Amino acid sequence: MRPEKPIGIFDSGLGGLTVVREIRRQLPGEDIVYLGDTARVPYGTKSKEAIERFATEDVEFLRRHEVKLAVVACGTASSVALSLLLEESQDVPILDVFRPGVRAAVRTTKTNRIGVIGTTATVGSGRFEEAIQRNGHRVIRSVACPLFVPLVEEGLYEGEIADKVAEMYLGPLKEEVDTLVLACTHYPLLKGTIRKAMGPSVRLVDPAQETAKETQEYLLSHDAVNPTDQRGRVELFLTDLPPHYRDLIELFLGEMPDRIERVEI
Ligand code: DGL
Repeated sequence: MRPEKPIGIFDSGLGGLTVVREIRRQLPGEDIVYLGDTARVPYGTKSKEAIERFATEDVEFLRRHEVKLAVVACGTASSVALSLLLEESQDVPILDVFRPGVRAAVRTTKTNRIGVIGTTATVGSGRFEEAIQRNGHRVIRSVACPLFVPLVEEGLYEGEIADKVAEMYLGPLKEEVDTLVLACTHYPLLKGTIRKAMGPSVRLVDPAQETAKETQEYLLSHDAVNPTDQRGRVELFLTDLPPHYRDLIELFLGEMPDRIERVEI
């Protein structure tokens, strides 16, 4: 693995930039090539076959950009398509947000009662339950929160409407779990609202932070951290440039990237 090569990251859209933000906090010298499949977002309402096909094409795009590592920064693609991506990955190692999320949840819980929230496809895949139970038979509850993604994209991640929606989805979970995994890349922006709805005693697991930590550990253990003392470049490749895409990029990433380009994949 060549240290000076970029890290490749993909998501169904722009939400995966929350993962890029964390990776830049922990690994500021790394160059990032990010693919956002904004023409086909959302993945969370699609079938397994479609999600697997899209995710395979996304990894192929990153491979063509000669990344040293591909990070699946999409909760849906990680839950639904990871087995296929790992099976098919030849030369490029694959990290994702699903496995670090599971490991952190199992580490965090004190009562063995873990909750997971994500898109309809993530929750429907049953992968979190499977993996968490395999790791020690934790009791878990999973809830699809399909209105959370549009709330964030409309900038309504705080305030009365967000509180009401969060209360509707999370009310039944509140007394049942001590740890909640935010298994969707948009949800870190809703952390304040989710914390309010769940109460102070429930620990929130943010897979973006966990994935950044695991990316750092992976690069360190493979002698593949970029040795530069310059801040790395961020290049964004998007399959569509939807209205307000610049605002959303800034919201998720917290800065503007060095390059934005529309691409066909
Ligand atoms: N990126 C997706 C995820 O993390 C959310 C948006 C979508 O449904 O594609 O699950």
